[in-house]
Amino acid sequence: MTSVFKGRSFLAEKDFTKEELQYLIDFSQHLKGMKANNQPHRYLDGKNIALLFEKNSTRTRAAFTVAAVDLGAHPEFLGANDIQLGTKESVEDTAKVFGRMFDGIEFRGFSQQVVEDLANYSGVPVWNGLTDEWHPTQMIADFLTIQENFGELTGLTIAYCGDGRNNVANSLLVTSAILGVNIHVVTPKALQPEATIIAQAQAYAKESGAKILVTDDVDQGVLGADVVYTDVWVSMGEEEKFQERIEQLLPYQVNQSLMKKTQNDQVIFMHCLPAFHDDQTTYGKKAAQAYGISEMEVTDEVFRSKYARQFDQAENRLHSIKAIMAVTAGDLFIPKV
Ligand code: CP
Ligand code: NVA
Repeated sequence: MTSVFKGRSFLAEKDFTKEELQYLIDFSQHLKGMKANNQPHRYLDGKNIALLFEKNSTRTRAAFTVAAVDLGAHPEFLGANDIQLGTKESVEDTAKVFGRMFDGIEFRGFSQQVVEDLANYSGVPVWNGLTDEWHPTQMIADFLTIQENFGELTGLTIAYCGDGRNNVANSLLVTSAILGVNIHVVTPKALQPEATIIAQAQAYAKESGAKILVTDDVDQGVLGADVVYTDVWVSMGEEEKFQERIEQLLPYQVNQSLMKKTQNDQVIFMHCLPAFHDDQTTYGKKAAQAYGISEMEVTDEVFRSKYARQFDQAENRLHSIKAIMAVTAGDLFIPKV
């Protein structure tokens, strides 16, 4: 009998059923408890994990590293300038080499095709640590955080306010639709998700009962939301777009007034991080000088308010990435979910 997850890659949410995603969320919760109670969970004892990063990272890199060590594996970080990937050696050849040395590969970068190719050619599980298109490991952490807050997921409503075309927006839209969570993408018309992604989400929603709303109307979009979620207005790789995005997205900034518009006292605020909520960073200072604003997608007030759950999400990256690696690269026996 085979094990449900063994040997599989984690490249995009669409490759997993509702039950499989729910299993990963619940198993993350279980591993969180094991760590809190100092119970060993070395499901990858003696294995080796490659961490490929074309783009920068704080949480994802830290989570993969600590998760690998907790699981008994050795993580090897290979940054964009350390290896030949795509510059002097093809993705196919690199994947074939790494597949002979490592038991699993994490990739963060620009192209979804690269992470797919790594999976195709390496023969070992590959985990998508973010591409321009999707951020699937983030989703397991986020829905774990939501489940911890509300006890269950079905029937809740997420209002995502901000850049509706980025990786996090795409992933939230599709994952919510699969899991039966209502998802509102609140964004100007010019930044609405691609039609193909909306159609994909709608097909899942038909099955799960999730309601999907894509709107440029903030009042309508956030009314009744249980979760208000935002992400940076300018994602990695599109840094030249600051001025344009600030002009487009300022009306969608998550501030106290927007939180009140949910008319829900139990509402929580979420952000995958990093966030521009003050001018304490180089980018924050530049934005303050060039555009006269000290906060972007979320105000410092909301970021530090009773609604805020972004640091729970950040911690949950560790437990969820651990779950994903353990079930796909480990020898756990999970005959069905
Ligand atoms: N949320 C997230 O992916 O954070 P990093 O970019 O720091 O990894
Ligand atoms: N949309 C952001 C997410 C960062 C975790 C980016 O791609 O930069």
